[in-house]
Amino acid sequence: MAHIRTWHLKVCLCVGTFLILLLVWGHVAQEGPKGALGLDLSPLFHGDLVRPPCRDRLVLLILVTSHPAHTEQRKVIRKTWAAQGAMATYPWQAVFLIGRTLDVELDWHIHKEHVANGDILMGNYLDTYRNLTLKVMHGLQWAAGTCQPRYILKTDDDCFVNTERLPAFLALSNQLREGLYVGSTFSREKRVVIRDPSSKWYVSKQSYEPDTYPPYASGIGYVLSLDVAKTVLAVAQATPPIPMEDAYVGILADRAGIKLLSSTRFAKHNLKWSICNYRYLMVIHRVSPAEQEVALGNVQLANTACTMNKEVTHW
Ligand SMILES: *[C@@H]1O[C@H](CO)[C@@H](O)[C@H](O)[C@H]1NC(C)=O
Repeated sequence: MAHIRTWHLKVCLCVGTFLILLLVWGHVAQEGPKGALGLDLSPLFHGDLVRPPCRDRLVLLILVTSHPAHTEQRKVIRKTWAAQGAMATYPWQAVFLIGRTLDVELDWHIHKEHVANGDILMGNYLDTYRNLTLKVMHGLQWAAGTCQPRYILKTDDDCFVNTERLPAFLALSNQLREGLYVGSTFSREKRVVIRDPSSKWYVSKQSYEPDTYPPYASGIGYVLSLDVAKTVLAVAQATPPIPMEDAYVGILADRAGIKLLSSTRFAKHNLKWSICNYRYLMVIHRVSPAEQEVALGNVQLANTACTMNKEVTHW
């Protein structure tokens, strides 16, 4: 009887040691090579570069990725959908994200543009398409660290943002005060990683091993709650960047277990829309400078012309 008990004890000890080893190994494997491959954002900040002031108690901060030479796009955006922030009931602010160029004259113009408008966040990275991820992560870091708005919208300078509705919608209708990551999503076939080195969207196996990206929101526009932005930035420190900023944010959110919400309020410009659609849409993609004013006019018209339609209060 006694020797059966010792035998039991030995098996128990053995299994126990094995389980502990497995646990330790799992932990070490998960940590990986100590974030060596992750994104280091500190070199993107440089004291000399211009940065805008943050308004108080922001409900929404809009980060607009902008090409340095897109002076016209920025000018029109300032006159149209970005014009009303200061007087809004639900405070919001729009900021343009621009990097360095190799053109001294253009850099000087951007500097002057900022002095006149105070709405440019310049980062210490070369402004190229393959550096778009640096641009967005730099913007997010500044937003989450300095401004701390309740929500952040990332969009582009060829988009129209429904600033008459989005801040109020976020403050009053949105139920997800935390854990919000919402935008226009892609089907699985459209999330296949492109391995053709000549493609604009090429990503190597070394940078990202799987063959498809996790679900992610299109870079035309996605909204993050402040906690999600902070989590995404933290995960980035241990995640090698890929040049597709929107897919990268999807990868980071996926790693953190943040669920992506799909919404048709973020859409490509469609001339067949009726006026009343402009009460529902929040971000419209492929809007030229000339079309920005028309889009704003449609939003304002929809405010008065569509009061018979019931307001949609969900994403
Ligand atoms: C991205 O920016 C960094 C820092 O300015 C620069 O060294 C690098 O060449 C840029 N990469 C690309 C692909 O443009």
